[in-house]
Amino acid sequence: MTEATILAIETSCDETAAAVVRGGRENLGDAVASQIDLHARFGGVVPEIASRSHQEVVDLIIDEALGRAGLRLKDIDALAITQGPGLPGALMVGMATAKAIAYAARKPLIGVNHLEGHIYANLFTHPELEPPFIALVVSGGHTILAYVERPGSYEVLGQTLDDAAGEAFDKVAGYLGLGYPGGPILERLATQGDPKAIKFPRAMLNTPDYDFSLSGLKTAVLYYVAKKRAAGEELNLPDLAAGFQAAIIDVQVQKTIRAVEDREAETIVLAGGVAANTALQRALTAAAEPRGRRLYYPPLDLCTDNAVMIGAAAWPKFLAKDFLGLDAETDPNMRLS
Ligand code: KG4
Ligand code: ZN
Repeated sequence: MTEATILAIETSCDETAAAVVRGGRENLGDAVASQIDLHARFGGVVPEIASRSHQEVVDLIIDEALGRAGLRLKDIDALAITQGPGLPGALMVGMATAKAIAYAARKPLIGVNHLEGHIYANLFTHPELEPPFIALVVSGGHTILAYVERPGSYEVLGQTLDDAAGEAFDKVAGYLGLGYPGGPILERLATQGDPKAIKFPRAMLNTPDYDFSLSGLKTAVLYYVAKKRAAGEELNLPDLAAGFQAAIIDVQVQKTIRAVEDREAETIVLAGGVAANTALQRALTAAAEPRGRRLYYPPLDLCTDNAVMIGAAAWPKFLAKDFLGLDAETDPNMRLS
């Protein structure tokens, strides 16, 4: 049984991905087609373009993952699909594809929560990692702080009240005309800048909850830029990026550490596209280690969207025979619970 393989498919946003994962722990072969180039000139993900592009490449990507694994559909034990959250049309392409394969090849179908997938990227990468832990899930669509008592049991402690962390990076970079996605671009700029040169607001830094608010920070950056431009002054982009990034990181680190201490958790798990940010990784490590806490995060390619994490998250469901019927629907607003 432990040798069972799952073919996982992920199409929730702007990456079409497939992976063959054995025993929830071993990536036999995977493939990712990023749509970044298609969306970049619009400054963000265009849902219609995303759906169409998924449709065009999903079969190819599945074949590529199977080919890399040296397997054929008949060798697979189950299919896993991201059921939500995500873009409705994009999710539907993946679900329809997975259902068609499950039906034709007579394999069970497993539905996976995309956010749970991001957390599983860590469990996949670090076999020694065990709950309970505090998970900070930061992506283009979400900023969530959760207490994970065991895999499958997620208590959401707090989340963003407006923009997600990745969304803030994307919007600020878009406004500055720097390109998409904004996270990696601003991070690179920030390495050349002084994070203390421009002081941006840290909303809700000291509120007793675990919620976040990032739209005020975004507005503060836009306001700062508009003022500079109106005065005909030159912008120091590296300082701006460093100051903006520091404001985001400060709040995330402070709230995460407080959650860890309140819940007496030993371990912190960083997940989602923004987990790729080295400054955030470093700041969280620097805060965690003196307190005797350990931080885990995935390698770069498993931080951003991929299907390996979906195949890993599907494993306990496979063992529990927690399968979807062929009438299953996507859930664009699916929650972590
Ligand atoms: O998890 P992901 O690939 O897709 C979603 O589920 O949303 O996350 C994408 C987000 C984008 O907003 C992108 O700007 C951000 O992750 N991101 C980063 C970095 N790399 C990706 N944000 C900050 N620093 C990075 N290095
Ligand atoms: Zn994601």
